[in-house]
Amino acid sequence: MLNASLTVDPAYTIGTVDPRLYGSFVEHMGRCVYTGIYEPGHPSANGDGFRQDVAELVRELGVPIVRYPGGNFVSNYRWEDGIGPVADRPRRLDLAWRSLETNEVGVGEFMTWARAAGVDPMMAVNLGTRGLEAARDLVEYCNLPGGTYWSDLRGGDPYGIKVWCLGNEMDGPWQTGHKTAEEYARIAVETAKAMRQVDPSIELVACGSSNRAMPTFGSWEATVLKEAYEAVDYISAHAYYQQHGDDRASFLAVATDMDAFIEEVVATADHVRAVKRQSKRIHISFDEWNVWYQSRFVGETNLEVEQTPRLIEDVYSVTDAVVVGNLLISLLRHADRVKIGCLAQLVNVIAPIMTEPGGAVWKQASFHPFALTARYGQGTALQTVASAPSVPTSLYGDVPVIDSVAVSSPDGVVIFAVNRSLDDSVALDVDLRSLPSLSAASHTALFDDDPDAVNTAASPDRVAPKTVDDPKIDGGRLQAVLPPLSWNMIRVS
Ligand code: AHR
Repeated sequence: MLNASLTVDPAYTIGTVDPRLYGSFVEHMGRCVYTGIYEPGHPSANGDGFRQDVAELVRELGVPIVRYPGGNFVSNYRWEDGIGPVADRPRRLDLAWRSLETNEVGVGEFMTWARAAGVDPMMAVNLGTRGLEAARDLVEYCNLPGGTYWSDLRGGDPYGIKVWCLGNEMDGPWQTGHKTAEEYARIAVETAKAMRQVDPSIELVACGSSNRAMPTFGSWEATVLKEAYEAVDYISAHAYYQQHGDDRASFLAVATDMDAFIEEVVATADHVRAVKRQSKRIHISFDEWNVWYQSRFVGETNLEVEQTPRLIEDVYSVTDAVVVGNLLISLLRHADRVKIGCLAQLVNVIAPIMTEPGGAVWKQASFHPFALTARYGQGTALQTVASAPSVPTSLYGDVPVIDSVAVSSPDGVVIFAVNRSLDDSVALDVDLRSLPSLSAASHTALFDDDPDAVNTAASPDRVAPKTVDDPKIDGGRLQAVLPPLSWNMIRVS
């Protein structure tokens, strides 16, 4: 048993948690849309063809905003293909995933789904093969009440889409229409201007780096923001993590990489702010993040053009779920600057929710820390001041065995913590003396004797959170035991 201590004090405020931190992402990729959220023949499908068993889990997951329609897909997408009578819509080759796109689901169908599922849309425009004109028309189609060509084609109430992404991963050579930072910055500024000329109330996200290891990371953000600082509200960040070989210890520490990534983007944005004598701050939209075993993806590349290929349907283990919980801790720790987060993706494609066509829906192990954090991690994020032993990792050096953050609200305080030790429990002592009114606590944790245990259609509840013995509170100090390799939520009220 290891020992660690934390101090939780309402004075150690990080910032208000924007509920959009708990967003997700639906891309026209693999089976995320078709046989994921949409499957007209499924027994649970509603009149619009959307699976209600899936929508129910989306609501339970607690995502308030969903990015759409890509991802790499958007960089070759004509949004006009997805409007009008479905029978007349073209079948296109999607270049990102070499798939057949039937366009049965377009922006109108997505909005129908989003409204029923209770989520706000976050729309990406194509700055790969298209540009300003198509983006401007899409804003008019979605957000103008009527009386113009595109808004009249839509009919009905405007969609009122608030957050828009100016392209996707435009720094990536794999992107159709990949651009240099200078090329992207110019098109982003002019597209932003035209989109705001249609609807001045929208918020705009400029593409940041596709990951922290990109050779252009840092200089890309600086170049884009020097040109586009005034034109945008957010810069994006994307990150996917996986366990390499049997190095579980490093994998359990990947949140240190996410921390560094966020802090470097913030530093770059604030440098440009200083140079430009700007008062506004650029916030981060971490609009793709998750565990993704990209090393397995090579063999999945689609050479046959199929309609719904099974692409990157990673099955998540207890270890993966603990890492997802830790990445959420990292996002909360930066709640002052990260305002939007999108777990990529929502259904089937590296997703917390899985389906079988015509069959079951179930929760992956990673569903649980996400849903519980989204539900209880609302309020004001608080820094936890920790004293804990270190664990050695080959990729990140020595890291604290406990990683944690707290969130306070009128209901009390919630502590989210991971124990990164593979073998040892941690006896945790929490100093709550500055919160004397808090007296009762509960402890929920995700852990298992088998860190590789997973959920499947046949065993959908093999991995689920467990209630641990209620922590004791005495004299303003809380005592809890965090099991080895675990994600933990301690609610104090
Ligand atoms: O989420 C899968 C893919 O990962 C997205 O399409 C792309 O933006 C990223 O590289």
